[in-house]
Amino acid sequence: MRIAALASHGGSILQAVIDACQQGDLQAEVVLVISNNSGAEALARAHRCGIPTLHLSSATHADDRALDEAMAAALAESGADWVLLAGYMKKLGPRVLAAYRDRIVNTHPALLPKYGGRGYYGRRVHEAVLAAGERESGASVHLVTDEYDAGPVIAQARVPVRSGDRVEDLENRVKDAERALIVATLQRLADQPALD
Ligand code: GRF
Repeated sequence: MRIAALASHGGSILQAVIDACQQGDLQAEVVLVISNNSGAEALARAHRCGIPTLHLSSATHADDRALDEAMAAALAESGADWVLLAGYMKKLGPRVLAAYRDRIVNTHPALLPKYGGRGYYGRRVHEAVLAAGERESGASVHLVTDEYDAGPVIAQARVPVRSGDRVEDLENRVKDAERALIVATLQRLADQPALD
């Protein structure tokens, strides 16, 4: 399995995947990391691990179509057979979606379909879970479509919400579960027989 990862910020989920590949816990290789944010820690993490990186955004391509085409070309060039969205805050364009149909996974820090979709990102997700008085939360891995967080869910991990939890407590608990979940799910996908 050759994975291209897209990330906008810290990249701790990405790091867990890179580490699992390097430690032999995941039979895969991260072959390219793309970010829309040139200052993303995710790019620095990839760079430190010797993984090629690319900044692609409206700053590099003012036109959405040109950006989509540049991303599709970079992904093809990398030889990636799967795309991982690991905290990527932008929508993908139609070319990329078509080229990697059913081969793009996103990880989301809640039990979809709850707390997903537009506006539910980062800490907002955990704030909403706490405000609703939920007793549990978790992480979901789903296939990516052109709607935010709407593709079929293929794996979930549950964690308790504890009384007195602050947003950062819940965020950390979910992220711990999320790191293990994404590695296990990618391994399951890598073990699938090839479709063609
Ligand atoms: C993760 O919680 C993921 O679910 C969400 O963005 C977060 C990324 O975290 N889409 P990090 O940048 O990998 O630490």
